Amino acid sequence: MHAIRITEPGGPEVLSWSEVPDPVLQEGEVLVDVAATAVNRADVAQRLGNYPPPSGASEYPGLECSGTVTGLGPGAEGSGWSVGDPVCALLTGGGYAEQVAVPVGQLLPIPKGVDLVEAAALPEVACTVWSNLVMVGGLRCGQTVLVHGGGSGIGTFAVQFARALGARVAVTAGSDEKLERCRELGAEITVNYRTEDFTERLRAEGGADLILDIMGGSYLDANLRSLTTNGRLVIIGLMGGRRSEIDLGRMLAKRLSVQATTLRSRPEAEKAAIVSGVLEQVWPLVEGGAIRPVVDRTLPLRDAAEAHRVMESSAHTGKILLTR
Ligand SMILES: NC(=O)c1ccc[n+]([C@@H]2O[C@H](COP(=O)([O-])OP(=O)(O)OC[C@H]3O[C@@H](n4cnc5c(N)ncnc54)[C@H](OP(=O)(O)O)[C@@H]3O)[C@@H](O)[C@H]2O)c1
Repeated sequence: MHAIRITEPGGPEVLSWSEVPDPVLQEGEVLVDVAATAVNRADVAQRLGNYPPPSGASEYPGLECSGTVTGLGPGAEGSGWSVGDPVCALLTGGGYAEQVAVPVGQLLPIPKGVDLVEAAALPEVACTVWSNLVMVGGLRCGQTVLVHGGGSGIGTFAVQFARALGARVAVTAGSDEKLERCRELGAEITVNYRTEDFTERLRAEGGADLILDIMGGSYLDANLRSLTTNGRLVIIGLMGGRRSEIDLGRMLAKRLSVQATTLRSRPEAEKAAIVSGVLEQVWPLVEGGAIRPVVDRTLPLRDAAEAHRVMESSAHTGKILLTR
C-alpha cells in the first residue's frame, strides 16, 4: 500500500507519499480500506519530532479515518463488524495510508445523514470532546463552559456538543470571522483574544464552570481567574507551553480543580469505553442534526504537506480532510 511517511523530523516537506508494507492484523483488529482521514495538531507535533507514536502504534500519522472494512483479524469474527461495512474509527496512528489496522473497540458506524468522507472529521473530536467535557469535566445543562480556540477542529465540535447539552458556551478565537462561525454553531459569549481580555469578559458574565483549554502554560493563571466557585479546568493541549506557576491560594478559595489528559496515550480498553460512550450519547445528536461535521477543506492524501501548511497557519475553521 501507500502511506504518508515522516522521513525525518522537520517542516511539511518531510511528508512523503511512499510505498510501504501492508498492515498485519493483530488479535481483535480489522483491516480498513481508508476513504478519508483528517489532520490534527498532534500530527504536526509528530512531524516535528515532538510527539512520538506510543509503543506498538503505526509509525505513520493519522488519528482518525473513515472507510470500508476489508478484512477481519484473529478474534474479530463475532465482533459484530463484517467485511464491506462502512465505518469511521479512532486511531492511535496510521490514518494517512491506504489501509489501516483498527482494534474493533475503536470502530464506529457512519452516522445517518453524514457521508463516508465527511465522517472522517468526527472520531477524534467526538471522543476528545465527549471524554473531556462529560467524563472528566462533568458538564451539565445550564452551566457555562469556555472553549479556547473555538474555530479549531476541537472547538467547532465542542461548541455544538456543549450547546446540545444545554450549556451556555463561551469561546476565544483570533479573528472575528471565526467568532462569527462560532456564534452560528451556538456560542453565546465570543472573545477575540487578540483584542479583549477573556478573563475580564468571563468574570463579567459570572465566570466559567468548566474550561476546555488547548493553550496550557500561557493561559493557566488567566484560566483559574476565569473559573467560578467549584470550577474545573481541563487541559488538552500545550500550544502555549508546558510550564507555568500556579496560585494554589486561588484554587483553595474557589475549590478549583485542574486536570490534563490525552486520548492517544489511554489504554485500548479506555479508548473502547470512550468510543462506546460516543456511540450512545453523541451519535444521536449528529443523526438528529444538532451537531454537524465542520469541514474547512478537503485535499488529496498525497498533498498532506499542503494540509499541514494550512493547519500551521491557522487559516482554517474546523477540520481539514485528506482523501484517497
Ligand atoms: N489531549 C487530547 O486528547 C487532544 C485530542 C485532540 C486535540 N488536542 C489538542 O487540541 C488542540 C486543538 O487541536 P485541533 O486539531 O483542533 O487543532 P487546530 O484546528 O489547528 O486548532 C488550533 C486552534 O488554536 C487557535 N489558537 C491559537 N492561539 C490561540 C490562543 N492564544 N487562544 C485561543 N485560541 C488560539 C487557532 O486559531 P486562531 O488563533 O485563529 O483562533 C486554531 O484554531 C491542540 O492543542 C491539540 O493538541 C488534544
